[in-house]
Amino acid sequence: MGSRFDEMRIFSGNGNIPLAQAICERVGVPLGDTTIVKFANENIFIKLNESVREKDVFVVQSLSTPNLSDRILELLILLDACKRASAGRITAVIPYYAYGRTDKKDQPRVPITARLLADMIQAAGAHQVLTIDLHAGQIQGFFSIPMDELTAVPLLVRYWADKGWDDLIVVAPDVGFAKRGRNFAEAIGAPLAIVEKRRIQQLGRRDGPLTSTEALNLIGDVTGKRCLIVDDEIATGGSILEVARLLEREGARELYACCVHGVFVGGAAQRLQQCGLREVVVTDTLPLSPEQHWPGLTVLSVSTLLGEVIQRIHSGISVDAIFTHRKHPALG
Ligand code: R5P
Repeated sequence: MGSRFDEMRIFSGNGNIPLAQAICERVGVPLGDTTIVKFANENIFIKLNESVREKDVFVVQSLSTPNLSDRILELLILLDACKRASAGRITAVIPYYAYGRTDKKDQPRVPITARLLADMIQAAGAHQVLTIDLHAGQIQGFFSIPMDELTAVPLLVRYWADKGWDDLIVVAPDVGFAKRGRNFAEAIGAPLAIVEKRRIQQLGRRDGPLTSTEALNLIGDVTGKRCLIVDDEIATGGSILEVARLLEREGARELYACCVHGVFVGGAAQRLQQCGLREVVVTDTLPLSPEQHWPGLTVLSVSTLLGEVIQRIHSGISVDAIFTHRKHPALG
């Protein structure tokens, strides 16, 4: 099928430039030329140094730390620049969608920031959104424009399945992840254990809520097993650390962990290295600094998946086939 747009352009903010470049290599187009400046007054200025008039434009921006608020503004300003430059269609490619945990009003006088962010992205000019493994699937409904939520889970599944271990058990680190944990375990052909975790929240500080976690109870038998803790994201590493301690106490033989989004904040990389994990596997939806790498960390790239889907969107071809055909090359 042909595209209704003659040409495609891919631009990137500073959220994950290595991933944007890898996507461009996969698609076979150069990364769009931009000027991005942060002035002394902290205002961000962006200029597209090439025409996007009537073109099919993809704006790649992972909502990453550090300087998350700058990354959000860069995305919005890039979208606005594309809109005002008469782009034919604008797709916001957001490999990691921040504020995913602020998705409901679960106590009085709190915002739904994931919805606010969706409103801003639409107001800025996005015609559609492409993202990977939202923290909560219902965030799709915060958008009234088309959203494709891809999953990088098959990449992780294939990585672990290829090891061929018959004593592997998948561990869901909390009850909320039990369903996704079960799907992961089924896909790998391994049994599932579930950790019942209570998150203790300390509120009321001016600089926002602090959280800590406590692993309480294990459902399943991990004695003498290789345990693979699976989560959607690792932020501080606190959850993984608590679960790892519990599994060690319960007689696990070897510990491993994986997630799609390696957010890695607040000394997570150091914490993960110290908690007895033989290997941690994440994807590159978020950039990692040299200090966040260590020999036991494996990073799988989502660039092939995103590149393939961007080409399909541009050409008006279904993206579903990638996921229904589980051995599709775009899935690793
Ligand atoms: C929580 O609901 C998420 O699924 C992750 O467990 C959480 O984001 C991990 O955060 P941290 O690494 O800070 O414990």
